Amino acid sequence: MEFMLDTANITEIKKYGAFLPLAGVTTNPSIIKKEGEMNFFKHMQEIRSLIGKERSLHIQVVAQDYEGMMEDARAILENVDQDVFVKIPTTPEGLEAMKELKKQGVNVTATAIYTKFQAYLAIAAGADYIAPYFNRMENLNIDPREAISEMAAEIARTNSSTKILAASFKNVAQVNAACECGAQSATMGVDIIAAGTTLTSVQNAVDTFTTDWESVYGRGKRISDLCIYQWN
Ligand code: E4P
Repeated sequence: MEFMLDTANITEIKKYGAFLPLAGVTTNPSIIKKEGEMNFFKHMQEIRSLIGKERSLHIQVVAQDYEGMMEDARAILENVDQDVFVKIPTTPEGLEAMKELKKQGVNVTATAIYTKFQAYLAIAAGADYIAPYFNRMENLNIDPREAISEMAAEIARTNSSTKILAASFKNVAQVNAACECGAQSATMGVDIIAAGTTLTSVQNAVDTFTTDWESVYGRGKRISDLCIYQWN
């Protein structure tokens, strides 16, 4: 699965990008709000320079009408770079914008997906990624597991190159479920990554390995120290 960070925080991207097999970074206007007022394009450029062109950067339009979305998309592409995945809410106006942007060869991520029908439309419109909102679907009593499985089935049926970028997670189990239901990608906040990578049992196991090793070779001795020791 492709792991993406759902944040615009530079410190978080640096810290988590150092150890994650990071596939990309996603943002939306609510995520931008958390960073406070900023030079938007400069900030997005900074994220791009951190993650490089080999990882995807997904930036959402703010306008709700077709013309406005197209202008937002143009502004993003001109002021950040042409490789950005323009995130477009899957509304009637958004679908119109997706079709036009795909005609122009722009990378598109269809977002704000709560239903299978929205997903099927976005797949047919040629979106590169579709972003079903896992936790928000659960809150509406829509089963995201069933929906994502069917989205994956539709992609297979239509031999589409669209990928499922599952989003809106509140815990690690939801991410696992999205992956197991066929999502090729998932974007999540660093709270989820932290929860999934800092288990006490794992640290205890690693501590025991260190203690056992040091009981034989001495405190602070590493395997690399043994080479030096043997050469001397
Ligand atoms: C993807 O980028 C979505 O905008 C995001 O994951 C939504 O998450 P939320 O439901 O926590 O706001």
